[in-house]
Amino acid sequence: MANSVTVKKRGAVLSVASECTPLVKTGGLADVVGALPGGLAKEGWLLRTILPAYPGLVDRLKSPKVVWSAKNLFGGPAQVFAGKTAKSDGALDFLLLQATHLYDRAGSIYMNPQGKDWPDNPQRFAALSWVAAEISKKGLSDGWRPNVLHAHDWQAGLAPAYLAYGGSRDVASLVTIHNIAFQGVAPASMLRTLKLPRKQFVQDGFEYWGKISTLKAGLMTADAITTVSPTYAQELLEPEFGMGLEGVIEYKRDRLHGILNGVDLKAWNPRTDASIEHTYSPRNISAKVKNTKALEKEFGLNKGAGPLFAIISRLTHQKGLDLVLETLPALLARGGRLIVLGSGDVEMEKAFVKAAKEYPGQVAVNIGYDEAQSHRIYAGADVMMVPSRFEPCGLTQLYALRYGTLPLVSRTGGLADTVIDANDAAVKAGVATGVQVAPSRSDSLEQGIRRICDLFENQALWGQLQKRAMAQPLGWEQSAKSYSALYQSLIN
Ligand code: ADP
Ligand code: GLC
Repeated sequence: MANSVTVKKRGAVLSVASECTPLVKTGGLADVVGALPGGLAKEGWLLRTILPAYPGLVDRLKSPKVVWSAKNLFGGPAQVFAGKTAKSDGALDFLLLQATHLYDRAGSIYMNPQGKDWPDNPQRFAALSWVAAEISKKGLSDGWRPNVLHAHDWQAGLAPAYLAYGGSRDVASLVTIHNIAFQGVAPASMLRTLKLPRKQFVQDGFEYWGKISTLKAGLMTADAITTVSPTYAQELLEPEFGMGLEGVIEYKRDRLHGILNGVDLKAWNPRTDASIEHTYSPRNISAKVKNTKALEKEFGLNKGAGPLFAIISRLTHQKGLDLVLETLPALLARGGRLIVLGSGDVEMEKAFVKAAKEYPGQVAVNIGYDEAQSHRIYAGADVMMVPSRFEPCGLTQLYALRYGTLPLVSRTGGLADTVIDANDAAVKAGVATGVQVAPSRSDSLEQGIRRICDLFENQALWGQLQKRAMAQPLGWEQSAKSYSALYQSLIN
């Protein structure tokens, strides 16, 4: 067949994570873990993703089959179900680790209904990592065995470690750092519970200030380390960003690669998005305004002379949103309005709710998590604010670019790598896509708000910036090639 493209089969990869779109998501990690299999399939890699079987997940698989089992996994029986999600859910190939004593409970995947981390989180994610290592060593009952074990963040950090401590050398391993602020720290008294060898409880092993760090265990034992943007890879070497692990990163520097995240161009497409009322493309971008009007109505906001700003975020210190509260008067003075969709720190939630009460018709807040509403906000807002103190990659600014919503971001991590500041030179050269400010400084954010309001006043220029934003190559092609080359070098 002249037109069919055959992809050379390169190998099999077991991707290990605590969350994955479309089954379970609390943040960007899920979207990236969910998009990697599609991106890498085009490069010839078959990825199967292993996740805990949180309540209801096995039911989302088409004809699930048991492919692994154990009588006692960290205190109870366990099984792994293999199956694909429906085509409408991306037809991803999942392995779901069912262990009732660890995962079958109400609350969020990390926290109890009172908002406190589950006390047995170390065991819950050690069990996931243990099973991933076992599958890598011995394979599944359907005969499948990976060539590469790809572990994401601290929850999967012990997977390469169990592999290495067990002396297994024929499966390559890779750890991706999505956020080094979360290090999987557990008390030293859990050594035996977590099936960790005492002789590795040293500085060159997984010992971390007298405790266990599952992320450090992964970093010390994996054949390669990646993180989710080139700038964050550089930043991780500095104490401010390395957060105590900068020494480990320095030690493993020759194994570290910064590979930028992409976005799932099908799921995030203003031309076809089923969650938005008025679809649009760069050619009929004026239709975006209808989404803005609908959004103002949905949130009960007044019209204004300035842009409609939005925030879609976990409300945590990392995201720098306290600075937005400080600069709110400047934003409103320019006729701007603000929508916030997010949840997290109780104090920050309260502060935003208070701001909405103080400025009715100008500030509106939804404390919660709402995927469909997030799409309506990406489509309807003029400006997406991401003033993070640090940001390993960031997906919100990428989705914003795709929807012609100009990002106002801090110059850090992946934000620095994906948004081109509209300074004079960039505007003249025709490359600008947003506004960057210095991180962690409210004076700089305030200046950024002024600059983006000035740009908004020049609607002809604004339209050009929007079109350019929407034309950015944000898909996985490039990054999938980088991961592919890395996998290949590891199994060579
Ligand atoms: P992080 O993973 O650090 O939270 P990212 O920018 O990488 O940050 O990814 C955040 C993801 O979570 C985006 O897909 C964003 O749209 C989504 N998100 C964050 N908060 C909410 C919310 N309250 N409702 C819906 N989606 C949200
Ligand atoms: C983490 C980071 C975020 C990144 C995401 C996906 O949650 O905080 O910056 O985009 O992982 O890699």
